[in-house]
Amino acid sequence: MKLSIVVPTYNERENLPLLIKKINDVLKEIDFELIVVDDDSPDKTWELAQQMAKEYPFTKVIRRINERDLATAVLEGFRNSKGDILAVMDADLQHPPEKLMGMFEKIIKGADIVIGSRYVEGGEIEEWDVVRKFYSKFATLLAHIFLPRSRIIKDPMSGFFMLKRKVIENVELNPIGYKILLEILAKGKYNSIEEVPIRFRKREKGKSSLNLANQIKYLRHLLRLSWETKEIHRMLKFAFVGLTGVFVNLGILWTLTDIAGIYYLLSAIFSIEASIISNFLLNDIWTFKDRKEKGAKEWFKRLAKFNLISLPAFPMQLSVMGLLKELFGVYYLMAALVGILIVFIWNFVANSLWTWRKVQ
Ligand code: GDD
Ligand code: MN
Repeated sequence: MKLSIVVPTYNERENLPLLIKKINDVLKEIDFELIVVDDDSPDKTWELAQQMAKEYPFTKVIRRINERDLATAVLEGFRNSKGDILAVMDADLQHPPEKLMGMFEKIIKGADIVIGSRYVEGGEIEEWDVVRKFYSKFATLLAHIFLPRSRIIKDPMSGFFMLKRKVIENVELNPIGYKILLEILAKGKYNSIEEVPIRFRKREKGKSSLNLANQIKYLRHLLRLSWETKEIHRMLKFAFVGLTGVFVNLGILWTLTDIAGIYYLLSAIFSIEASIISNFLLNDIWTFKDRKEKGAKEWFKRLAKFNLISLPAFPMQLSVMGLLKELFGVYYLMAALVGILIVFIWNFVANSLWTWRKVQ
């Protein structure tokens, strides 16, 4: 079994030689190739790589002239590779090459994908400040919300991973930005997947190319994946169910108050609960029909969770409304609309991550 390691580079002249040497040291026992995909770096990384290839013949160099994107560079590397097993890692030595062998063995033993993970037990980040850590965690949370398939992974944003080629064979990948792994997790064909802890090292030389443009690319990428995997459609269904709930709520309120003559605040308690239950039933048989654990007990658990999540909705709606109107002078109907939107987001995210968490 041949291993192809794809290393995207942009201005990594100072790091690449050490990486190649280390890889040479740690992979003595296996058949592998190293594919450097350079986007015409101003520091001529490609040229240096070509020189090194003479001493380290496992090295192949691809120089792309008109493109500058990490994820598509990786795909270009895949296309030009020969291995049955593919790996991706950064050139800046933030990913420890010593882990490659262990990851390779896990693939041989049957894993389809192995991820070098900063967020499993034993994983670590050496250098980042609080802000960058927060961004990373927040980006991961977004992935877990909009791409449920990524939930089983603690670090779906990792740039260090290995996979069998068959995972992406005949799969159309079109990522943008940095998060090629996310694309593979969303569309790939795999059953068993493992995370191994890594220590994400300090970048000694050169600097990270991650910038605002790349963060925006990430959001665009995530939304597109969410659309392609129909997760956005789920959100629309959820909103539609919520709308039916309004009618159930008002209808029962009116019936109990005007027809049955019950005091309106007491009627409201019943009508609110009735709409919560009808929303739950619709979401359970329609919106989240693919994400349920079987059995009556599980059904009751979901109902309880759904109710619990609905509880804070009431004070949330009121405080957002009050705040916007009293403090910022927003027209009360507008304020109510914003409140509804925020409650909607709360309801969807909380229920998706908790009530119907299960993803097969
Ligand atoms: N070919 C090519 N084109 N390579 C690039 C480009 C590009 O436009 N931009 C960056 N690279 C290369 C770098 O030379 C390096 O080898 C690797 O991609 C990672 O780039 P960094 O700029 O060092 O990224 P980072 O350290 O901020 O981000 C890393 O960690 C993230 C985890 O939060 C990457 O591994 C990300 O993929 C990962 O998500
Ligand atoms: Mn880096």
